[in-house]
Amino acid sequence: MTLWVRSTGRALRLWGRGGEPAWACRHRVAGGSRPTPFSAGASGAFGSGGGGEEEKPRLRDVAELIRAQAGQGVVVMAGAGISTASGIPDFRSPGSGFYSALRHWDVPYPEAIFELSFFLANPRPFFAWAKNMHPGNFRPNVIHYFLRLLHDRGLLRRLYTQNIDGLERASGIPGSKLVEAHGSFASATCTSCGKASPEQDLWATVMADGVPRCAVCAGLVKPDVVFFGEMLPERFFLHLVDFPAAELLLVLGTSLKVEPFASLSEAVRSSVPRVLMNREAVESWRPRSRDVVQLGDLVDSVERLVELLGWTEEMRELVQRETAKLGRPGR
Ligand code: OAD
Ligand code: ZN
Repeated sequence: MTLWVRSTGRALRLWGRGGEPAWACRHRVAGGSRPTPFSAGASGAFGSGGGGEEEKPRLRDVAELIRAQAGQGVVVMAGAGISTASGIPDFRSPGSGFYSALRHWDVPYPEAIFELSFFLANPRPFFAWAKNMHPGNFRPNVIHYFLRLLHDRGLLRRLYTQNIDGLERASGIPGSKLVEAHGSFASATCTSCGKASPEQDLWATVMADGVPRCAVCAGLVKPDVVFFGEMLPERFFLHLVDFPAAELLLVLGTSLKVEPFASLSEAVRSSVPRVLMNREAVESWRPRSRDVVQLGDLVDSVERLVELLGWTEEMRELVQRETAKLGRPGR
């Protein structure tokens, strides 16, 4: 799928890829959990399985590719799979994903919760979900801190994320290194008059199970999370320079089902190695000769990768420091 820049003067819009509702999927992701040596994140449950002798050579390849980087050439694309270890469900994992849970909610189909027309008619399901996404509820996990280490070591060119949980920022990666492609809760706007609304007012109302209204016109206030059919933030256009300049692409924890984000995975030069790390195979991934695909649990993979890179001690210290700074979730 290549139709992701319609024209630079006009909007980049967000649309779903593939139409099958999550609850129509038959497969279930195997469960189980184990503690992490870095003990970061909200839940302490750091995913499952995924390990296996046959994966090790691939992780060694990934470590080699990272070691070979001389400057800020690494571009990262991230999705909900990097935050499940922090206790935030992804969207499409059958059973555990948010879209599966939505079967019991008052929504006609899962993506409707992120559609403006549905939101304007019935904003309650969105705000019920938003309430769980309060920034105080979650902490970055070892995957976010691995990305932070890439930055600390001067290797990160940019991190493109579809996540609106703010955990990349919370891990200490500066805003200049981030493209929050699907927006965030950090700001909110009136859907009628366009007036910006303070974040703290929004959260106060949402946490009290209310629907935020504009102080000027009483219109519905919506956090600046990108809904289907809406424009992506201007910073998304940085992809026009970042992807052609990338020396290594890491794609982590995403089903690549939402455009135009998904198509970025094909925007690096054909000579550039791409690493896909995800629990399961990604349907739309079109293999290239230099790809490395590491399937399985991301926490397992990242921890082993950190070990292979010899960054374990640095990681332990970083996690300890940052965890002390942020405190426990819920504070
Ligand atoms: P999805 O839920 O579609 O995909 C998450 C992927 O991460 C799945 O393939 C999971 O198998 C994988 N995954 C989950 N936990 C993992 C773990 N611990 N280790 C390894 N892999 C794991 O989420 P996204 O691709 O991010 O849009 O979804 C893209 C967009 O769709 C979201 O930004 C959202 C949604 O509609 C908006 O909110 C606008
Ligand atoms: Zn207004």
